[in-house]
Amino acid sequence: MPDRRYLHLNLVANDINLHQGAHGYEQASGVPERSTFERLLEYGTFGDEGLFTALFVGDIPGMQGSPAFDGGPAEPITALTAISQHTKHVGLIATASTTFYDPYNLARLLASLDQASDGRAGYNAVTSVIDDFALNYSLAKHLDREQRYQRADEFLDVLRALWDNRELRRDPDGRTRFYAEPINHRGKLFQVAGPLNIAPSRQGRPLIAQAGGSGAGIKVAAKHAEMVFTNSSTRESAAVYRETLDKALVDEGRAPGSVPPIPGLIPYLGRTAKEAEEKLRELDGYVDWAPIAPFALGQFGIDIPLDDITAPFPVEALPVPADVEKTIKSTFGNYVGLYNWIQERPGVTVRDVVAQAVGRGGATHRKFVGSYDDIVDDFAAWHSDGNVGGFNLMFSAGAQSIREFIDEVVPRLIDRGIYRSTPADRPLRERF
Ligand SMILES: Cc1cc2nc3c(=O)[nH]c(=O)nc-3n(C[C@H](O)[C@H](O)[C@H](O)COP(=O)(O)O)c2cc1C
Repeated sequence: MPDRRYLHLNLVANDINLHQGAHGYEQASGVPERSTFERLLEYGTFGDEGLFTALFVGDIPGMQGSPAFDGGPAEPITALTAISQHTKHVGLIATASTTFYDPYNLARLLASLDQASDGRAGYNAVTSVIDDFALNYSLAKHLDREQRYQRADEFLDVLRALWDNRELRRDPDGRTRFYAEPINHRGKLFQVAGPLNIAPSRQGRPLIAQAGGSGAGIKVAAKHAEMVFTNSSTRESAAVYRETLDKALVDEGRAPGSVPPIPGLIPYLGRTAKEAEEKLRELDGYVDWAPIAPFALGQFGIDIPLDDITAPFPVEALPVPADVEKTIKSTFGNYVGLYNWIQERPGVTVRDVVAQAVGRGGATHRKFVGSYDDIVDDFAAWHSDGNVGGFNLMFSAGAQSIREFIDEVVPRLIDRGIYRSTPADRPLRERF
């Protein structure tokens, strides 16, 4: 049976997405401390074991606070190249910024990951948001969104041309040789002669994913991507996103439905819903809320004082997404996700919003609290709607919660017939 009839579950391998109480929770539960790189390799092992379609590694190209909450993990392509040697099946999707990289260099690095992993590599193209990171790359300031996406579009044109203009060919003498053609790209921003001197893997080139949910981001996704990392907190918003993406795909001459949106999801699970809620409360108990409160809206450049953590959230002060789409800092889709989440919950407190936006991990992505059976029902409902290809899962409490998911939820999903029961052995691109 082809993989596409199954849900795609990717394992997000970034400790930055952990619940803010996860480190305290691990320590209290007697989980031994591991080095940052050991934790990355552990994600790899879980990736194969849980039959995940891919490991999905985000990238933050700069320091976000010292001490670093995530322990300072290796750069994604380097990390995944190492992980490729310890895994057999799981896809390996690395994030890198089109704003800060040079396309020829990135084409080489990703093609190398693709070789090392025998066709399991993917590239998540992002344009990056934190203004100060630009200062690490000889820029006086961050490019605005329009400029970033113009660059992303030309960047991906170059990347694909470099990857496509090469082949391994079996010659009449029986030997396989690597051939590649120049691309002679002369664009507004890039001048690249080519050819790329790295031979293709068995999937030809890495899968291209995209993350960035504004209109300009969706346009770039529609032109270049084969998978999109999104933020949809309800089935209704997933349907709306799908319609928007499908229209953009048609404008690009591509078939509607040909690019699966994959929203982020943070599961909090237990044998019963009550147990899951208790676990979440236990994790919450390790968080110091007041110091992280300013980041809840500050990450979007929205200045609403949130001094009293127990007060009702000032909903009336929150700007409507359409009014701030052009000016918002950080990820527009994440703001829309948070905005909708708040509108759907009249009477939420400041602490609830801080928990949703930053404390409980995974940015503003949907948090699911429920039993093992509940999450299988939830996945089945989203799957049957047909508006998403699956989920990028971010596990709140790290290794323990991934283990629990693999032991308890994966067998239930297989029984339900919506998840593969054997490892995927096809190249990553063919799985989507
Ligand atoms: C789900 C999601 C994940 C993202 N992951 C990253 C990342 O790992 N690194 C990064 O630099 N930017 C990341 N971004 C930021 C986007 O590339 C983009 O710069 C940002 O979302 C602003 O564009 P937008 O308004 O079109 O969303 C992510 C965006 C989304 C929606």
